[in-house]
Amino acid sequence: MQKTKKNVPLKPYNTFGIAVNASYFIEIHNVGELISILKDEQHKALPKLILGGGSNVLFTSDYQGLVIKNSIHGIERITEDNDSVVLKAGAGEVWHQLVLYAVDNGYGGIENLSLIPGTVGAAPMQNIGAYGVEIKDVFESLEALNKETFEIETFGLEDCQFGYRQSVFKLGLKGKYVITSVSLKLSKKPVLNTSYGAIEETLTSAGIATPTIKDVSQAVIKIRQSKLPDPVEIGNAGSFFKNPTIGAIDYEGLKAEFPEIPGYELPNNEVKVPAAWLIQSCGWKGKTTGEIGVHKNQALVLVNYGNGKGLDLKNLAVEIQQSVAEKFGIELEMEVNVI
Ligand code: FAD
Ligand code: EPU
Repeated sequence: MQKTKKNVPLKPYNTFGIAVNASYFIEIHNVGELISILKDEQHKALPKLILGGGSNVLFTSDYQGLVIKNSIHGIERITEDNDSVVLKAGAGEVWHQLVLYAVDNGYGGIENLSLIPGTVGAAPMQNIGAYGVEIKDVFESLEALNKETFEIETFGLEDCQFGYRQSVFKLGLKGKYVITSVSLKLSKKPVLNTSYGAIEETLTSAGIATPTIKDVSQAVIKIRQSKLPDPVEIGNAGSFFKNPTIGAIDYEGLKAEFPEIPGYELPNNEVKVPAAWLIQSCGWKGKTTGEIGVHKNQALVLVNYGNGKGLDLKNLAVEIQQSVAEKFGIELEMEVNVI
């Protein structure tokens, strides 16, 4: 195993491109290395942060502890029959690489989750989702190291308590486990999900009448590239806030006052309101202050144009929350993990 490095710049390790340092940093490649570093006496007292691709974190100051970059790789087929296959991937595998592996082999289920940045191990943390699919829909199990007992435990679907951008690892078990692998059950006879957003429109304009999973994957990639800023060009972490859910009666009240307000009905007499619309309606879209701002095409995405500070982004997020609460009485919850 490599030695821990001291005072390591984290700018290359977070998609916001925030320039902070970690007091200590190490990259681990297997469970043995992970256990060794967690047990290491020299670092025992330090706070520890598990980092995947750094695409859902906002550093607000130097990290006074040990950053453990998860680079446990590998994709394997665990079981398969005529209808399905279970793929197990190391937590440090790049999520999109797993999607491409599935798509290339004709395994359906995660094509709508194409091009989501980050690692496989972080995907269950917030139950990643896009274009009508969430990882929970294909989830088989995951393995995670208990940081107290150093035992690997297996979590099934129920154990993970998945919700919208939510899991037990952000709730009751926050900070207690390191996810080391994730297993997904994919279909050899995929049923495509093209009803969400602009997928159908994109397929039609490409002249595709009977799409394959590869066509759907490519359509999703195209839509995402047209809507979301590329972190290589402009620092960001995707949606900064979750889309809020409100009661149908509250929604009707808002609709009377703001007839344009969009809303998507949910089964339990609730309505999901696009946070981007709320933020845009408070005048934030495209607003820039110094090195940071709100993206000009997507009001839900906060951006760092180069040398922005994490604390300034956090303060901007709080200001946005306050203005949305004042105007609409809706509390926006941050999706990004503020550190
Ligand atoms: P990191 O940012 O490294 O970590 C996120 C959190 O998980 C941290 O708290 C970290 O400590 C913890 N963590 C990471 N790995 C582990 C592990 N192995 N064990 C335990 N804890 C761990 N998300 C969506 O759901 N849908 C989208 O459509 C989407 N689009 C995005 C678009 C862009 C341009 C960007 C930049 C982000 C987008 N995101 C989206 C958010 C992000 O891609 C996901 O949250 C992703 O799963 C984060 O993975 P990561 O490896 O980068 O996690
Ligand atoms: N809208 C605005 N202003 C904008 C942008 C959008 O008013 O600047 C409104 C429009 O009414 C639009 C609606 O918001 O119809 C929804 O916008 P979009 O389809 O772009 O989706 P989103 O709600 O912004 C969510 C996820 C994304 C995911 C996409 C596609 C959350 C918090 N975000 O974005 O996930 O990729 O849907 O499924 O649920 C992420 O989590 O980081 C992320 C990018």
